[in-house]
Amino acid sequence: MQMNKRTLVATLLAAAGASLLPGLGAAAGKRLVIGFAQTGAESEWRTANTESVKSAAKAAGVELKFSDGQQKQENQIKAIRAFIAQKVDVIILAPLVTTGWDTVLKEAKAAKIPVILESRNVEVKDPTTWASFVGSDFVEEGRRAARWLLDHTKDTQGDVNIVELQGTVGSDPANDRKKGFEEVIRTNPRYKVVRSQTGDFTRSKGKEVMEAFLKAEGKKINVLYAHNDDMAIGAIQAIEETGLKPGKDILVIGVDAVKGAFEAMMAGKMNVSVECSPLLGPQLMEAAKKAAAGETLPRWIKTNEGVFPQEVAAKEFPNRKY
Ligand code: AHR
Repeated sequence: MQMNKRTLVATLLAAAGASLLPGLGAAAGKRLVIGFAQTGAESEWRTANTESVKSAAKAAGVELKFSDGQQKQENQIKAIRAFIAQKVDVIILAPLVTTGWDTVLKEAKAAKIPVILESRNVEVKDPTTWASFVGSDFVEEGRRAARWLLDHTKDTQGDVNIVELQGTVGSDPANDRKKGFEEVIRTNPRYKVVRSQTGDFTRSKGKEVMEAFLKAEGKKINVLYAHNDDMAIGAIQAIEETGLKPGKDILVIGVDAVKGAFEAMMAGKMNVSVECSPLLGPQLMEAAKKAAAGETLPRWIKTNEGVFPQEVAAKEFPNRKY
């Protein structure tokens, strides 16, 4: 095929431009390939999140390479390196913890592969190594949990002793849900966090740690604040095994609003769940397509969420999607 000089120059400029923009090749009609480094399957929430990303990828005609990090950061780092070697167009990362990502994110940037964070955020020196964060406002979730508690107990007298089950140590939702909750309860000296420990976002750990809290504090405990519903559900079992009534003797607050929490609320064993949506798949696919086309994404693509107290659980349950 013959090309005149002007066409040749235009073609070369277009090719040079394309190679400067991360993932632009993917926009040229070829099937988008995304590598997804998931944390693991620690909770009902996470299972719904994985399902949401997989089904949205299928609906969008995207090839998704999925890696289950099994709750280990080193597995996630290996997966990102494998995605870079496979020259995927976009990487989606659900970072287990906030720190320790600098090097591998730099490697992705050097390979011109945009990285979109989902469901948890990172703390890195160079914020240009990731394109966007798709997920919730975890500080606000913590505030919502505390506001519900203050409002629900406003007519009671005396100290309100709270035990807290934290999420995975060093993870963004654990740090921020703690921060937001403390920010609000600090406004009233009646509210005291008497014990706070990690339950790693799992039911089994939630139960184990709640057993220890009950042994140490016994009937002194008025409230359980769990950073996710799975830990709350595990803790409910521990409370019942001591002969106390969860939801009555001890108020139970969770985060996520998964179906399991609605079932516990309908049984009167849990009092409230603050919503954190795992259904991020469609927003992620849209963001990935834009990033692959070289578009600049908003730093934070937020999800809209509510609060579900026990009183509305039965009415809302049929509408729940996860
Ligand atoms: O990152 C979101 C959190 O991770 C969810 O609240 C928790 O259930 C999950 O494991």
